[in-house]
Amino acid sequence: MAVNFEDQTTLFNFVVKQGNGVKGLIDSGLSCVPQRFVQPLSERIASPDALTREASQPIDLSQLDGPNHKDVAKQITEAAETLGFFQVVNHGVSVELLELLKTSAHEFFAQAPDKKAIYLKEVSPSKLFKYGTSFVPEKEKAIEWKDYVSMLYTNDSEALQHWPQPCRDVALEFLKSSMEMVKRVVEVLMENVGVRLEEERMNGLMGTKMVNMNYYPTCPSPELTIGVGRHSDMGMLTVLLQDGIGGLYVKLDNGQWAEIPPIDGALVINVGDTLQILTNGRYKSAEHRVRTTNIGSRVSVPIFTAPNPSEKIGPLPEIVERDGVARYKELLFQDYMNNFFGQPHEGKKSLDFARAN
Ligand code: OGA
Ligand code: NI
Repeated sequence: MAVNFEDQTTLFNFVVKQGNGVKGLIDSGLSCVPQRFVQPLSERIASPDALTREASQPIDLSQLDGPNHKDVAKQITEAAETLGFFQVVNHGVSVELLELLKTSAHEFFAQAPDKKAIYLKEVSPSKLFKYGTSFVPEKEKAIEWKDYVSMLYTNDSEALQHWPQPCRDVALEFLKSSMEMVKRVVEVLMENVGVRLEEERMNGLMGTKMVNMNYYPTCPSPELTIGVGRHSDMGMLTVLLQDGIGGLYVKLDNGQWAEIPPIDGALVINVGDTLQILTNGRYKSAEHRVRTTNIGSRVSVPIFTAPNPSEKIGPLPEIVERDGVARYKELLFQDYMNNFFGQPHEGKKSLDFARAN
């Protein structure tokens, strides 16, 4: 089957609509990057890029409930106030599971295109499981060099019923074994700003849970493409497992980009827009992006936690009172989410939607 990748529509249909993905493009023997994936100069990642290595010293969470509580809590809150990113060890997720997650991600994407295409959002048998390429490819000038699956969690029995293997068991186990840790980290962050959330409110703010598996195929010209464009995550906290290839960058205050280096056995945690809004800007959702490489295909497995769609979000009253000003308005999380998924990645522009006028 010879597909004419010179033709824009044919290419788009092959990759996005027919679900061959970027992986299918590479597997077809392609040796140069099609124009549709070429980023404008301003978005390309020159190498060598990052000059600093931040978040390279993981925080030991086993110390959180012992005599070193204060010190560990300080490490977490300082990271959330500055970089918006940190790494953790002794997080309660077994190292064997982390390995299995990476293998399963490779296994899913290694399947023939028609095995994956049945989960494209237009045809997927379930709203809870979706496969696709890039973020909003229809609206992007340049498509991101990434295929992904996304698994929305409602409850165990629906996950077992709707998420397919080989992702299902490992993703569910990952979600369940990390959720306590995530809630504990949120508690620590809230304590530090003098807020105690009622259980019901906490559950409302953490009610949307999603596990993704990202697959960044090896790229013949990594300097032209991007794995994920500059963005912040929309929710509370994201927990991310990355493999050893590297390529995740976070933007520093001075405008430079620092790599979050892969650390065996560690998980990456980053602050999302919702947490920035709730804390009136005290914690910073981190602007981040992923570069592509030609040394191999990279996988990552993020867990996104976010409010229930029906939850109202806005700066917490205790904090507004102290600050004397509300920097964000109150809104329905559903509306924030619709806006977020409605446009291509563009740094932290997503937050403008919530900004107080
Ligand atoms: C994301 C993301 C980073 C990575 O999926 O939102 O930022 O390393 N992923 O894959
Ligand atoms: Ni992200």
